[in-house]
Amino acid sequence: MFGADFYRDPYPVYSGLRAAGDMHFSEAFGGRGTWLVPRYEGAARVFNDPGLSAVRSHRFFDQYSPQVRQELEEFARVFKQWVVFLDPPDHGVWRKVMMAGFAAHRVRRMQADVERAVDALLDDAEGAGTFDFIGKFAYLLPILVVAAVMGVDARETPRFLAWAEDIASFFGNPGAPAAAARKAQEAVLALHAHFRGLVAQRIAEPRDDAVTLMVQALQALPMDEEARHACIHDVLPAQCAGLLFAGHETTSNLIGNAMHALFRHPQQLEDFVARPELGPQVVREAIRYDTSAQFSSRLVEQAFEFCAVRLEPGQIVIALTGSANRDERVFSQPQEFRIGRTGEPQPLTFGNGRHYCLGSHLAILEMELALRKLVTRFPRLQPLSQELEWTANFNFRGLRSMQVRIN
Ligand code: HEM
Repeated sequence: MFGADFYRDPYPVYSGLRAAGDMHFSEAFGGRGTWLVPRYEGAARVFNDPGLSAVRSHRFFDQYSPQVRQELEEFARVFKQWVVFLDPPDHGVWRKVMMAGFAAHRVRRMQADVERAVDALLDDAEGAGTFDFIGKFAYLLPILVVAAVMGVDARETPRFLAWAEDIASFFGNPGAPAAAARKAQEAVLALHAHFRGLVAQRIAEPRDDAVTLMVQALQALPMDEEARHACIHDVLPAQCAGLLFAGHETTSNLIGNAMHALFRHPQQLEDFVARPELGPQVVREAIRYDTSAQFSSRLVEQAFEFCAVRLEPGQIVIALTGSANRDERVFSQPQEFRIGRTGEPQPLTFGNGRHYCLGSHLAILEMELALRKLVTRFPRLQPLSQELEWTANFNFRGLRSMQVRIN
C-alpha cells in the first residue's frame, strides 16, 4: 500500500477502500492488527466512540525489542503526556490549560504578526524571481508564527525545524525503524528541555505569550504543590513540544498542498487571482481536498461492535480522514477541487469531537493570509516543473519542494 505511488497520490487507494466497505483489517502495522476506516461516517465516529481510547502512544513503541524500548523509555514517558494521547478526565484539564494560550480571540490578535511574517518571506522571494515555494515559504511561515505565539525566540527556529522533521518521520509512519525512533527521541527530549527552560523564565518574568498564559492557568488550578510542580515543570514542557510540532508540520504541509491543488486547477487559480477576497473559500476547499494530516488513530479498550465488525482489545482503529474528505456519499464530485462548495459537512481535517484541533483558528488564519497575499503580490505565479517529490510519510502529507516562477 505505501509505495512511492501512494505518497504521490493516495486517493485512488482510498477510493478502492471506500468502494470495498466500511472497515478493512490490516496486519501491516503489527500488534493485534489495525482497522482502516475510509468512509466519512465511520471515520467521524472513530473520534467520538466511547469504546475507543486516545491513550495509544505506547503502541508506537510496542514493536521494538526490549533493549530498544528501554533506550526509548524517557521518550515514551514524555510523548504519552501530549494532550492528543489523553482521555478524560486528564484530557479535559490539559485542553483547558492549553486553550488559555490558543483561544480564538488571542489568535485574532495575531493577525498583524502573521501578516508581517508573510510579507517578510515574500520580500525575500521577490528578489529571486524563482524560488522554492515549500522550502522558502510554506515550510518557514508556520514555525515563525507558532514560535511567536508561544514566545520562542525566532533565532531558535532552524533547530526546531530539524526536530519537527525527525518527530514527523516517526509519528507519521506507524512501524518506523528503530533508527527513526532514536532520532525522534533526541528531538522530543531536546524540545522538552528547551521548554523547561522557557517555562522557568516565564515564571520569573511573565510575558504576553501562550507559555505564560498556560503557566498562569496551571497556577490557578486547585491541586497540591507537588502535583503542580510536576505539571508546570514536566508535563507543560512536554505539551509545548507537542504544540510546536503540531503547529508547524501540519500547517506548512497544507499551505504547500493548497498551492499545489491550485496549480493543478488553473481555472480556480485564475478566479482566485481575479478575486483574492475568495481566500476563505479557497482555504475551506484546500482543507477538504488534500489534508496534511491523513489519519488519526484510536485504541480498542474492550471488545465491541463498530460499523458491523467486532473490534478486539488492543487493536488500533485508523480514521482515514484524507479518504473521508473525498467520500462520494457526502461530497458531490469529491475528486474535484471546487471553490465555493456549499451545504456539505465539515471535512475531518481537524478531527472531530473532544480532540478537535486546538490550533485550527491559527492554521486557517495563516493559510488565508499566506494564499491571499501570495496571489495578490504575484498574480502570475506558476510552477516550474510538474515533477514533484512527496515526503514518504503515511500521515503527514506534503511536498519536499516546489520551484515556482513569479513572472
Ligand atoms: C492545517 C493544519 C492542521 C491540521 C491539519 C491539524 C490536524 C489536527 C487533527 C486531525 C487533530 C485531532 C487528532 C486526533 O483526534 O487524534 C488535531 C489536534 C490538535 N492540534 Fe492540530 N492541526 C493543524 C494545525 C494545528 C496548529 C497550528 C496547532 C497549534 C499551534 C495545532 C495543535 C493541535 C493540538 C494541541 C491538538 C490536540 C488537541 C486535543 O487532543 O485536544 N494544530 N490537529
